[in-house]
Amino acid sequence: MNMNAVTRDDLQTPVGRSDAKLLVSMQQLGKVYPNGTVAVQQASLQAGEGEFLCFVGPSGCGKSTIFNMIAGLTEPTSGHLSVLGTTPKEARKQNEIAFVFQEHTLLPWARLIDNVTLPLTLRGVPKKERIAEGERVLELVGLKDYTKSVPRQLSGGMKMRVSIARALISRPKLLLMDEPFGALDEITRQSLQDELLNIWQKERSMSVLFITHNVFEAVFLSTRVVVMTPRPGKISEIIDIDIPFPRTDDYRVMPEFSHYIRQVSEALKH
Ligand SMILES: Nc1ncnc2c1ncn2[C@@H]1O[C@H](COP(=O)(O)OP(=O)(O)OP(=O)(O)O)[C@@H](O)[C@H]1O
Ligand SMILES: [Mg+2]
Repeated sequence: MNMNAVTRDDLQTPVGRSDAKLLVSMQQLGKVYPNGTVAVQQASLQAGEGEFLCFVGPSGCGKSTIFNMIAGLTEPTSGHLSVLGTTPKEARKQNEIAFVFQEHTLLPWARLIDNVTLPLTLRGVPKKERIAEGERVLELVGLKDYTKSVPRQLSGGMKMRVSIARALISRPKLLLMDEPFGALDEITRQSLQDELLNIWQKERSMSVLFITHNVFEAVFLSTRVVVMTPRPGKISEIIDIDIPFPRTDDYRVMPEFSHYIRQVSEALKH
């Protein structure tokens, strides 16, 4: 671990820090799909180590496209994008990026320990090490008593926890989450938000980029909210959420919380 990394304690001070190590740098990034759809236009953004950025914007504004470019799954058609100081594809090869989607992509018949250690199995990591890491991440998401269960015995919230555990197993520097909690009920969603913030605070240098349609979720979780315009997607505003961590349920009823909700909601109207 980089000992000079910005630690979570630094987030007690104002966020959006300029001294943090740069993880994602997008300059005038654009994506036109082969069928002519302009999905993203001139998007510029810099994300540092240890940040939590939430992307909000209307359906079809290019949020997933931006994430797919950062993950090296699709190529930009204009502009510049560097991830962890290299190309997205190279960063992905080094297992520095992990992705969590709304629909879990677990193997329904495989035990949780086998599901979460799959990325390590594919890389040929020895079994003993795999199991130790699998137990570590299942404990992080509160499922250490379920290592031998299979996903079809689990609730939606538990399956999401397993997906998060599998994403964390490679100790990624960058965690991309595309509407991960969209299909969950409000109570499960709030408890997963708390857990995700706890994990993020433990992992210290990991940055999370998170897509949501839920303004409350964005303001609760993030150090900055990235607001996008309708298609063709541009970043219209980036709003600092200047509230220290750890954030508890009290934060959800603070005047500052309502203030930021209003600010993000207004920005979405422009
Ligand atoms: N593979 C593709 N080929 C052509 N067009 C695409 C492709 N993927 C996405 N698009 C289009 O690009 C635009 C942006 O899509 P994208 O999925 O990035 O939006 P989004 O902001 O993630 O939307 P949502 O909130 O509904 O998930 C949309 O108009 C979509 O139809
Ligand atoms: Mg999307």
